[in-house]
Amino acid sequence: MKFFADTAEVKDIRELAELGLLDGVTTNPSLVARSGRQFKEVIKEICSIVEGPVSAEVVSLDYDGMIREAEDLRRIAPNVAVKVPLTLDGLKACKKLSSEGAMVNVTLCFSANQALLAAKAGASFISPFLGRLDDIHVDGTELIAEIRQIYDNYAFDTEILAASIRTPLHVKQVALIGADVATCPPAVIKSLVRHPLTDKGLEQFTADWKKTGQTL
Ligand code: E4P
Repeated sequence: MKFFADTAEVKDIRELAELGLLDGVTTNPSLVARSGRQFKEVIKEICSIVEGPVSAEVVSLDYDGMIREAEDLRRIAPNVAVKVPLTLDGLKACKKLSSEGAMVNVTLCFSANQALLAAKAGASFISPFLGRLDDIHVDGTELIAEIRQIYDNYAFDTEILAASIRTPLHVKQVALIGADVATCPPAVIKSLVRHPLTDKGLEQFTADWKKTGQTL
């Protein structure tokens, strides 16, 4: 499973890239607003750090506006994946952009039928939002499993990009289901390494090594 960082914070992206743990980045208008930076400028900087897909979201709600913005965003770097919303205009834009060879991430997916439409529109990625479903007491993992089954039934090559991941448990759940990508806040990616028995074991080994009086 690939890991994307769900952030527009360049410092965090750089840190994960240096660790070798990063396959791509997703942003959205809320994350860009939180960064306090100019949208195109921050996308350009992220694309210079990460070789994999960097999702940049259109803000128009109509087809023509989406296409205009997408063309602008695609000029920033070859690894920009244009993010469009799961609406009829978004799907139409997805079809057009993907037929021109653009990477398209269809976002704000909350049902299996929406994911089916995105695959038929040629999306490179579908983004089901796990955490936001959990927030309203719906099991988001069921949605990911349904999409996995539908995509496998018809051999769609659209990648399932599990989004709105909030916890390490979410990461394990979507990996078990077979999501292609998990996009996570950087803190969640880094937290995956932690285990109290690893810390305890390391403490013990360090203490015992000291007792030997040896150096390496
Ligand atoms: C995905 O591309 C979205 O940016 C993101 O995962 C949304 O997460 P949130 O529901 O925590 O805002």
